[in-house]
Amino acid sequence: MLSISVEEFLFWKKKQLSKGGDFQSFSVLLDCIGGISTSYLKLLSINPEGNLHIKKNLDDIASIWDEHLINSTPIQYLCGIVFWRDLKLKITDKVLIPRSETELIIDIVFKIFGKKSKKLFFAELGTGSGAISIALALAYPFWEGIATDIDQDALEIASNNYKDSSQQSNLRFYCGHWWDPFDNFKGKLDLAISNPPYIPNNTYENLPKEVKNFEPKIALLGGEDGLKHIREIIQKAPLYLREKGWIILENHFDQGEKVKQLLVKHRFTSVEILKDLSGVERFTIGRYK
Ligand SMILES: C[S@@+](CC[C@H](N)C(=O)[O-])C[C@H]1O[C@@H](n2cnc3c(N)ncnc32)[C@H](O)[C@@H]1O
Repeated sequence: MLSISVEEFLFWKKKQLSKGGDFQSFSVLLDCIGGISTSYLKLLSINPEGNLHIKKNLDDIASIWDEHLINSTPIQYLCGIVFWRDLKLKITDKVLIPRSETELIIDIVFKIFGKKSKKLFFAELGTGSGAISIALALAYPFWEGIATDIDQDALEIASNNYKDSSQQSNLRFYCGHWWDPFDNFKGKLDLAISNPPYIPNNTYENLPKEVKNFEPKIALLGGEDGLKHIREIIQKAPLYLREKGWIILENHFDQGEKVKQLLVKHRFTSVEILKDLSGVERFTIGRYK
């Protein structure tokens, strides 16, 4: 730990922010690398006296900030950390950075199943960093969860995040293509969730460079119309869901109606498109018969 005056620190902070970037990313950097939490940062601004303790020297932190600004490297990859709901997850560029809009999936589950519930089986297809499954396994200690991914590196990150966040053992991880790991769960799942890759091929080319140059392609690309994976997941879901089991899917901003039609075609009922906090039709849910 290094000790510096609060006055010097606040001057340095103002200089860094004047170079560009947003305050939220800068706060993540200060928290993860400097050990200065956002709430402590607010306190310092109110009372800028005395000294503070910081984990790294200011030049080192500034050079990480510069890399973020110059190359558009996501701050979460540079820090190796992402904050998602109340979780602090370790990540690398082998996994998608879990988005804040995806946090709403957990609230959708709360709305459907209530805060407490009897034992249920849930599945997450394409878990990435494990964010969704870990949040659910913690919120529902009596549920049994299975989280899968096609990418072995992603699964390792997810299972380590689970070990770091929980003392429980109600979440298992399997590697495989969409429903392939669920052979033993035919007709048994109460809930299946997926935020699959859904970016249409030609949209991918125009993604912001902080996404296109850094995030795994396999986590983003959804084929020509973006619906390749969603179509496959919906088509096979009836084999694995219990009667009245739920499916919750995240989709691209303009895919809600098409995903809804796919669910109806495969005999799902109670089909609904749900909006995220920006009013985007981000999620489509349904119940198998
Ligand atoms: C959009 S990311 C979502 C990650 C995480 N669930 C989240 O919400 O942050 C999609 C995930 O699906 C995985 N994936 C891609 N193709 C797959 C396949 N054929 N079978 C299983 N998982 C796949 C990717 O590796 C990636 O982790």
